[in-house]
Amino acid sequence: MSIITIFNQKGGVGKTTTAVNLTAALARRGRNPYCIDLDPQAQFSAISGVHAADGDATVLSLFQRNRPLRELIVSTNNGGSIIPAHLELSKVDTLFGKGYNVVNRLNTALRAERFADEAYPVLIDCSPLIGVLVLNAIFASHGVIIPVSADHLSARAALQTEKTLKALEVVLKRRVPRRYLMTRFDTRRRMAWEVHQMLDEKCGAEVCRTRIAENVSLAESPAHSMTVFQHAPSSRGAQDYDALLDELLADGFIV
Ligand SMILES: Nc1ncnc2c1ncn2[C@@H]1O[C@H](COP(=O)(O)OP(=O)(O)O)[C@@H](O)[C@H]1O
Ligand SMILES: [Mg+2]
Repeated sequence: MSIITIFNQKGGVGKTTTAVNLTAALARRGRNPYCIDLDPQAQFSAISGVHAADGDATVLSLFQRNRPLRELIVSTNNGGSIIPAHLELSKVDTLFGKGYNVVNRLNTALRAERFADEAYPVLIDCSPLIGVLVLNAIFASHGVIIPVSADHLSARAALQTEKTLKALEVVLKRRVPRRYLMTRFDTRRRMAWEVHQMLDEKCGAEVCRTRIAENVSLAESPAHSMTVFQHAPSSRGAQDYDALLDELLADGFIV
């Protein structure tokens, strides 16, 4: 099954919002996704009501003592499954270097534990910093979703992320399938359409047709430790993430 990383080199573009609500959309359809929270800020974990006691309950222990990933899975408050994050996860960058085995650790573990053979997708939420954790996520994934909030700085970061992916493809010796996803899209703003046009020109076929609108329910639901489907199931935000899943399933990006 698909292993999908959500990444952009900029913070605040909707990575965690997308990871949380795309995972929830999958869960609603009985696809029982796993989420791996690789962001030391642990926002996906917190929204899911999961508070890891320390780094040992995170993939840090995969690096530190080769602990199986399946031992780290915990249930969330929305019926999902997560390998949570903790601030201590930020140690990975300083402790282990960036050797081949280190940056392939997650990939090796996911294959050895046969996650990809199951019917359940795996979604990985990342921090914006290109370090050991993000490299692990990209190297382990079949595809990358790059959320781009509808502003110029975010668009610039998306093009930077495109360059990074191209550089990593040389190392990986394969193309990384990807989808750019416009988030926080306000149709009344000219800037939103400018960013949209620029992305279309530069990344064409890899831009999702679904756009995630600026939506207050999406912004409010984390405060209640809820997905948008729990907090406001008939909101525009819930509809958009459901439509995004339809699109990604229909074009085979998520299988
Ligand atoms: N479509 C949206 N509409 C309104 N607010 C949003 C939307 N997407 C994200 N947000 C808000 O924007 C902020 C940054 O989103 P987040 O998903 O945490 O970004 P990242 O993980 O990339 O740092 C959060 O406060 C989030 O609730
Ligand atoms: Mg985040």
